[in-house]
Amino acid sequence: MATQTGITISAPDAPFTIVTTVPRPTPGPTQALVKSLAVGINPVDPMQHHTGLLVTSYPAILGSDFAGVVLEAGSGCTRLKPGDYVYGCAPLGQNTFTPFQETFLVEENVVLKALGREGVDVEGLAGVGAGLFTAGLCLLAGMGLELSPDGTKAAEKDEWVVVLGGTGTVGQFAVQIARACGFKVAASCSPAKAEIAIKNGATATFNNRGGADEQVASIKEITGGNFGRIFDASTYGYGVMVAALEEASTAESKYLTSVDDWSPFNTPASIKEYRAELGHLGRLDEPIGAAVTKDIASWISTFEAHLAAGTLKPVEYQVVDGVGWDKVIEGINQQEAGPAKKIIVRTQTE
Ligand SMILES: NC(=O)c1ccc[n+]([C@@H]2O[C@H](COP(=O)([O-])OP(=O)(O)OC[C@H]3O[C@@H](n4cnc5c(N)ncnc54)[C@H](OP(=O)(O)O)[C@@H]3O)[C@@H](O)[C@H]2O)c1
Repeated sequence: MATQTGITISAPDAPFTIVTTVPRPTPGPTQALVKSLAVGINPVDPMQHHTGLLVTSYPAILGSDFAGVVLEAGSGCTRLKPGDYVYGCAPLGQNTFTPFQETFLVEENVVLKALGREGVDVEGLAGVGAGLFTAGLCLLAGMGLELSPDGTKAAEKDEWVVVLGGTGTVGQFAVQIARACGFKVAASCSPAKAEIAIKNGATATFNNRGGADEQVASIKEITGGNFGRIFDASTYGYGVMVAALEEASTAESKYLTSVDDWSPFNTPASIKEYRAELGHLGRLDEPIGAAVTKDIASWISTFEAHLAAGTLKPVEYQVVDGVGWDKVIEGINQQEAGPAKKIIVRTQTE
């Protein structure tokens, strides 16, 4: 059996260990074997390390966001071939699919392909997967927004979408998607970071550290009540969402969507609620996993078209110095310290 280098943990919270004995996976018919070139670090990576969340077996190989190059494509692949640059978010906790190892598998229907090889920004692409997929789940599946399949921006609408946490990785993609769908966007953030939300297309920003009353008043003042959709990309905004929809919105149809899929919610019946469950991507034996996987598969060509056209863009990132598996561990430590930007680590050279 061919083996390769990867990072393993033997149990929840056990130290990361770099080993050379990881079995190299073989792609099934609709899968490709990808060489890991860069990974993006997500809040879920340290969380999985400490708690074992969604891990299916030990020793476990973690990792979520990735960019890499296809080495081998399964016999039934129609989209991928060797040499293609791909990126996305791995099915969490499933050892053959996770990118903290030399090579890993992707299902070709839920992976993004860089259209064209010229000027591929592997580091930028490694920061796209979880943020874009999660924002897609909350805005497209959860709120019914529609991106044009050809990558063009929709005509401007006289209606607002509110994004709480418009400076985080998920929040930045949410701002971009809402703008590409033609909506005006009111984004909350730390005042010092307002420029990040504006760069992503936010029409107006307000202070996410203000109390709920202050935030609802800001939403009302900015939108004039002309909104029915709020997304919390921060996990801090459930109360603000409910209060804003109940007290400040003039819309007939009301939606709240959230990245928080663990806290108890008690959403009034007049508001449609949706919570992202990206961690269930690829778990086709679970109803939620099947639904998430089907949704993401249905958006892949649309996302590729928007990323190629520049209507959707990678978020700003910071790169850990150097290349290698020890740098991934450094990147996870930086994530735990609270980074200013998305952290990217180069895992291997081409
Ligand atoms: N359920 C799912 O499927 C799913 C998928 C992906 C991510 N997530 C979760 O979604 C969250 C965001 O992920 P991410 O990658 O975008 O993280 P991130 O880049 O670190 O963004 C965090 C966001 O939270 C805001 N924030 C931080 N502290 C806050 C506070 N005290 N009050 C209000 N807002 C605060 C930040 O805004 P400022 O810095 O501007 O204050 C920023 O917008 C994480 O909790 C992650 O675990 C869930």
